Amino acid sequence: MNDRLTLNNGVTLPPIGFGVFQSAPEETAAAVETALSAGYRHIDTAAGYGNEREVGEGIRRSGIDRGDVIIETKVWVSDYGFDETLHAFEKSAAKLGVEQIDLLILHQPMPQHFDRTIQAYRALEQLLADGRVRAIGVSNFMPHHLEDLRKQTEVVPAVNQVELHPYFTQPNVQRADADFGILTQAWSPIGGITFYPGWGDDTRRSVLEDDTIARIAKTHSKTPAQVMLRWHMQQRRSAIPKSTNPARIAQNIDIFDFELSADELAAIDGLDRAVRGGPDPDENDPSTWELTIPEA
Ligand code: A2P
Repeated sequence: MNDRLTLNNGVTLPPIGFGVFQSAPEETAAAVETALSAGYRHIDTAAGYGNEREVGEGIRRSGIDRGDVIIETKVWVSDYGFDETLHAFEKSAAKLGVEQIDLLILHQPMPQHFDRTIQAYRALEQLLADGRVRAIGVSNFMPHHLEDLRKQTEVVPAVNQVELHPYFTQPNVQRADADFGILTQAWSPIGGITFYPGWGDDTRRSVLEDDTIARIAKTHSKTPAQVMLRWHMQQRRSAIPKSTNPARIAQNIDIFDFELSADELAAIDGLDRAVRGGPDPDENDPSTWELTIPEA
């Protein structure tokens, strides 16, 4: 069960990766170093998070061979377009301090400018053909975006990284990904988006405090976060929990010594409220395009 996940082009990933969304740059290098010493071998960042340089620094400080770590990053929408996205790769690679990026994905579709999204994806295809990246993919793509992409491009994305936790399971996206041969990757896999300040109103409930998950966690003498990560793993999704706390970093990868039953998996699936915590990919806010990604 602790098997690596195999992408549609043969590249493999460990089931649990390490996320650094909202990790302050000054905390990121230490968090990445802690994660690598705890056993993580896949780090997910993004140009838009502003901490790629510190991710690279954490990897180098860990002393772990570059070849043993999967580095995933994302191109931000203001860098979409063919030449712009080729340049975005150069910026990210230089900040990370690497020649090759393992997994490079588009951060989100730009529904109002899907032509630019397509040009950006064609640049990823070029980078793949040139060996600058080992795999390419997308994030926050809904099934109709995948369908539109398929009609205009050659390479099937290796992953689609989407909001996915017990309160928002997106079965339609998981089905479409599976039909296309795309690995579904869960962002906010333990539901950080259900309690992050500034991302919703007071009616939100943290999935970390869910009663069903608490009951299952008690049965296995594990924590709610571990139960959710095990649920992702047994359903063969990639998950990238974020933490800057050393004890929680270690806890989130300590999920290989128990197994959820089919009934427990179904009970967690049944918690879906079909209400997203993050932005709707069909309505991305033009003000987000104003974020520019600095040169390396
Ligand atoms: P912290 O960085 O202080 O640990 P997600 O990856 O689903 O978005 O969740 C990230 C959020 O969950 C962060 O606020 C993180 O805070 C917190 N977190 C990470 N791991 C755990 C854990 N094992 N138990 C409780 N909270 C956690």
